[in-house]
Amino acid sequence: MRWLINLWKTLNKPAQYLTLGAVSVTAFLMGVIFWGGFNTVLEATNTEEFCISCHSMQSKPYQELQKTVHWSNHSGVRATCPDCHVPHNWSRKIARKIEASSDVWGWLFNTVNTSEKFEDKRLEMATREWGRFERDDSLACKGCHDYKSMKWDSMSKLAQKQMKRAAERDQSCVDCHKGIAHTLPDIGTARAPELIAEVGTGPSKFDDNAIYFSSLTKPIYLNERTDVEAGTLNIATKVTILATKGSRIKIAIAGWRKKMGAGRVVYLDFGINMLLVQLEKFAALEDGVIVGFEQKEDDLTGLKWQRVEVEVWTDADYLIDQQQPLWDYARTTFRSSCSVCHSQPDEAHFDANTWPGMFQGMIAFVDMDQDTQALVQKYLQQHSSTFVKEKH
Ligand code: HEC
Ligand code: HEC
Ligand code: HEC
Ligand code: HEC
Ligand code: HEC
Repeated sequence: MRWLINLWKTLNKPAQYLTLGAVSVTAFLMGVIFWGGFNTVLEATNTEEFCISCHSMQSKPYQELQKTVHWSNHSGVRATCPDCHVPHNWSRKIARKIEASSDVWGWLFNTVNTSEKFEDKRLEMATREWGRFERDDSLACKGCHDYKSMKWDSMSKLAQKQMKRAAERDQSCVDCHKGIAHTLPDIGTARAPELIAEVGTGPSKFDDNAIYFSSLTKPIYLNERTDVEAGTLNIATKVTILATKGSRIKIAIAGWRKKMGAGRVVYLDFGINMLLVQLEKFAALEDGVIVGFEQKEDDLTGLKWQRVEVEVWTDADYLIDQQQPLWDYARTTFRSSCSVCHSQPDEAHFDANTWPGMFQGMIAFVDMDQDTQALVQKYLQQHSSTFVKEKH
């Protein structure tokens, strides 16, 4: 086993110092190491030492792990990288080793060798990793933790309730316990990974006065520095860029609000309940945040509405320059999720104010994250009879 680790360390030199031949030989040997079925190889590649020969001491997963209970705790049991990442069941272990050839390619081509590159790939890697835990029912966790040996009485009320239910179904731990060993990926994207993979995260530089659309529900702020959230910008909302400062941008949103209370919810148009932005009360009352214009009364509800413009700050990400990709994603999701039990209703079958109730009534039947729900609902409203008059 020693010899293997030593051989590995010799081979473990940055790719640019190797000739093409050496790269091929290395790749071949790595292949043997990863693919090899014999136990010595398996054992050697199953040590933390091996993992951190690439995922070095300074690397994020290793650093982050050291801050958690799995590194040090009162029982003195430490979880190493392979404990969690390599299933203990033999055939699943082999399957994981085969997949690990992407580690080798990644290493050869330096895919995650800097902090920035790692962060850029973190969500993608974590999503794959979550998929594996789901597929394996978190077998690796269960190598140490056993539902049957858990002492419910000594757990918090919340843990008891959730954990007992999980135990009845022998549920996969990582369904609920994500980010226990490493920092979670940027939470923005973690919410709707497929959507973001489809539409992208948008540019990092913006021209003043350009038009963009939010590709996620995003927090908003009252200035470029504060961490205190002033509310949320709804998904698929059109914004105009006013200014850029560091990683924040100032945006303007035009819409209508109901003239009641602080009037802190802004909608797409007069009388149409399509969310654009929701402000915290303190923010709505702040000077210059919401600028009001003319008012109109809705005969149907007797409510007064006011045309407004909102100016707030948000992080310079998840803003894309077209709305159509969002609608395309929403349409596909709607058609696939909502046709399971009945044929999916025509978008234009209801009007913009009826759809939310209908949609919310069905949402418990489908597995859709919050952002995708908000997007699909908005898609249905935007393509409802209110806007697509010719159909109905
Ligand atoms: C040959 C160097 C190398 C070794 C040895 C290595 N890794 Fe990796 N690993 C990488 C690279 C590079 C990536 C990024 C791969 C990519 O770009 O998709 C990665 C990705 C990962 C991921 C993310 C998985 C994914 O699907 O993206 C996990 C988890 C991981 N490694 C765990 C381990 C564990 C556990 C070990 C020890 C058993 C180990 N690695 C050994 C280089 C290595
Ligand atoms: C090598 C054994 C081992 C493995 C593998 C392992 N754990 Fe643990 N886990 C422990 C130990 C030991 C503790 C600390 C127990 C104590 O002393 O409180 C712990 C604690 C926890 C806690 C409590 C955290 C806290 O803050 O108190 C959770 C949740 C948990 N583990 C989930 C997981 C999940 C999910 C996995 C799989 C991804 C996993 N564990 C894999 C050994 C392990
Ligand atoms: C349905 C969701 C769910 C699943 C699945 C689940 N847990 Fe939990 N678990 C919770 C919640 C909620 C808590 C309590 C909140 C907290 O302490 O963070 C908890 C708490 C814990 C604790 C701390 C208990 C305490 O109060 O000291 C441990 C350890 C733990 N879980 C381990 C696991 C392991 C291991 C698995 C898989 C075998 C697992 N959980 C599966 C939801 C879940
Ligand atoms: C207690 C279990 C546990 C241990 C120990 C552990 N990991 Fe992880 N790791 C996870 C889980 C769970 C994920 C999925 C993402 C998440 O929920 O944080 C993950 C994700 C990753 C990823 C994908 C990127 C990311 O940050 O999500 C890499 C790379 C990785 N682990 C490498 C390692 C390496 C290297 C070690 C050893 C230094 C290690 N892990 C130890 C549980 C563990
Ligand atoms: C698990 C099965 C199931 C799924 C999945 C499902 N539905 Fe339904 N849907 C029903 C049933 C059953 C009814 C009739 C009973 C009722 O109205 O509650 C219904 C009725 C409806 C109606 C007619 C209600 C009315 O009063 O006219 C609409 C509209 C609708 N669904 C939309 C959707 C949408 C949108 C989705 C996707 C988010 C969806 N459904 C997903 C089972 C489902």
